[in-house]
Amino acid sequence: MEYTIETHDLTKKFALQKGFTDFLLHPFRKDEMTAVEEVNIKIKKGELFGILGPNGAGKTTLIKMLCTLILPSEGTAYVNGYEITKDSGKVRRSIGFITADERSFYWRLTGRRNLKFFASLHNFYSEDAEERIDELLSLVGLEERADDRFLSYSAGMKQRMAIARGLLNDPEVVFMDEPTRALDPGAAQHLRGFIRDRIVGDEGKTVFLSTHHLPEAEELCDRIAIIDEGRIRVVGTLDELKAGLDKPDPGLGDVFMHYTGKEFERGAAPKHVYPGRRRMMGGGRPGGMRF
Ligand SMILES: Nc1ncnc2c1ncn2[C@@H]1O[C@H](COP(=O)(O)OP(=O)(O)OP(=O)(O)O)[C@@H](O)[C@H]1O
Ligand SMILES: [Mg+2]
Repeated sequence: MEYTIETHDLTKKFALQKGFTDFLLHPFRKDEMTAVEEVNIKIKKGELFGILGPNGAGKTTLIKMLCTLILPSEGTAYVNGYEITKDSGKVRRSIGFITADERSFYWRLTGRRNLKFFASLHNFYSEDAEERIDELLSLVGLEERADDRFLSYSAGMKQRMAIARGLLNDPEVVFMDEPTRALDPGAAQHLRGFIRDRIVGDEGKTVFLSTHHLPEAEELCDRIAIIDEGRIRVVGTLDELKAGLDKPDPGLGDVFMHYTGKEFERGAAPKHVYPGRRRMMGGGRPGGMRF
């Protein structure tokens, strides 16, 4: 297959929870919101592809579908040549999924013990596992702290441990959902260098990452897809995206404005919420309440 990731009209709709009044007024109405709408993207092997969008744009939902954690409502996708619904087991074995959610580790265990546990879920045991774990600990620069408890790590170390875990099965494709969230600017900068030089450069992995940080997408990604309200508005290299604008030396914020008609910081209006809730959340301001 020519592409490592290929999506065809990939769509996810979520059922909306009804409030009491809505339930009384429209008991049989089925309300849903579209979190990801007809996404068509193609990503080649070894690419560092970024999906950029504000809060609620649909980034995590898209990644979860590609990682087979949730089912699409319509459309489909192929990852490493496997269809995400029919061959979900094969997709899972060939990918790594890295999130900033550190709660999925066992805090009282050491970093090494955590990795041993997750290696066993990939059917790696004893010497094979130990060798791979040592290799990964050295890749993420945590050999010296490997035998300390997970709870004693800094946010940056926890994130590096999450990367080591995501690479345990030596995946072809690595999905990262906002990998630098919760890191200070220095640690984030270090991690970006690590992703580009080691994971993509040395290891030759295909990386699909999400971010809502404009400079991160600008600095890191070979190609960027801008997503807003569930729809991909444009895809291209930074130069290609900028070339579409009539402005001298535009930034990614200008590109976002050009293709979505709004400023990046204001983000997507949560238009799927019920009018009553929308008033509570944002007083009707476009963009709603920002956190
Ligand atoms: N399980 C769910 N049930 C209902 N709605 C959901 C669910 N998961 C996500 N959504 C909605 O889908 C939309 C997209 O959410 P998603 O988490 O994909 O956004 P995101 O781009 O990852 O945002 P963020 O930058 O805040 O992480 C949001 O409006 C969200 O409320
Ligand atoms: Mg998200």
